[in-house]
Amino acid sequence: MPSSDATTAAAQAALPTRHTLHAPAAVLDRFTDSELASLITLRRTLHANPELSNVEHATADRLHTALRALGVTEVQRVAGTGVMARIPGRTHGAPVVALRGDIDALPIQEQTGLPFASQVPGVMHACGHDVHASWIVGAAMELLREPAAGDVLLILQPAEEIGAGARAIIDSGVLHGVAAIFGGHVDRRFLVGQVIAEPGPLAASADSFTIILTGRGAHGARPHEAADPIVAAAAVIAAVQTIVSRRIDPSRPAVCTIGSIHAGVAANVIPDTATMTGTLRATDAQTRALLTTELARIAREVAAAHGVEAVVTIERGTPPIVNPVREAAWARQAATAMLGADAVVPFGITNMGGEDFAFYMEQVPGCFLRVGARAPGEPPTAAHSPRFDVAEGAILVGAVVLAACARTASQSLATGRGVDDAEPSSGSSNRPML
Ligand code: NI
Repeated sequence: MPSSDATTAAAQAALPTRHTLHAPAAVLDRFTDSELASLITLRRTLHANPELSNVEHATADRLHTALRALGVTEVQRVAGTGVMARIPGRTHGAPVVALRGDIDALPIQEQTGLPFASQVPGVMHACGHDVHASWIVGAAMELLREPAAGDVLLILQPAEEIGAGARAIIDSGVLHGVAAIFGGHVDRRFLVGQVIAEPGPLAASADSFTIILTGRGAHGARPHEAADPIVAAAAVIAAVQTIVSRRIDPSRPAVCTIGSIHAGVAANVIPDTATMTGTLRATDAQTRALLTTELARIAREVAAAHGVEAVVTIERGTPPIVNPVREAAWARQAATAMLGADAVVPFGITNMGGEDFAFYMEQVPGCFLRVGARAPGEPPTAAHSPRFDVAEGAILVGAVVLAACARTASQSLATGRGVDDAEPSSGSSNRPML
């Protein structure tokens, strides 16, 4: 659906000035007033009209239109509700770098009270993907006026929240020939203007599991005639806590959380079955594998001790993101050039959240950044909260830094490959996008 007049009015309500944006002057100075207004309005419009994973139809339309309005000629749909575009580089044949922003929202009822709050009941951009999408449009502005050595592929990816979009983009084949990929996430723990661009783990693997315990139901007054799956479930829940505390190397981060348990319908009936679901997190492959094998083993053996059968199903989700040294160094160099050395700050924590950017990094080396999104004095509201909001200066910081990542990586790769930067690009519009 195109934006209604009411939506547009809400999105344009009291646009921030350069002064109230809390972004570094070096970043603001790169944009004209009309570019600033259009980026802020785009993000607010996306925010007011959030769409869930894989149904981001109006979002994709808006982003497609925004890129075309900048004069980007190669814009097309990808992976259903995704959008991709190609910004020509300076030099024909120089390495291609990709930038990715995700675009989907969450099933959360917004409670921010913002003038551009979600107009869709029960759906909210509570993870900042409205900002990530706007970064890519802002990066296009930057790369059109100051192109990278090689072409830059812009990927506006659907369905990150369900861990499906990156795989769909990869399956479409558009990453073929891409030499490096960069993306990022807003982070309210850090101030606008601060960026994390470091090697090592930036996100955890996120595998989910289901445990179905099958025993034998009976009257609640005659438990000796039952094989009680609820008592077995209680024992399993306690026992799997020892995976992290007793089986995993304490120097390796790991999580085993049981997030749901369902069994029984009446106070005086022992049911036949109990079902639990949960999530496993790790930042390295070895720990990830140990979590799954130990979960299955302990659940089966503890259940068996109670005369109950456990069937454990693991659904593999995103792998961990581990930024490689070379690509992280490029991202650091890019952020430092745009924001100054003080702006690049240590992460200082291990993020056990999952992020489907990890699937790209199984195919193409890259770096995933965290971009500060809190104005001074604001609370560090966590993502996926109904009160989550992003300080709007972060829209510009992310755009500028991602564009700089593309330029730095492309130039370094071109130099390493001996590409002659003096040879002008023949123009990419006649070449296929893939
Ligand atoms: Ni997110």
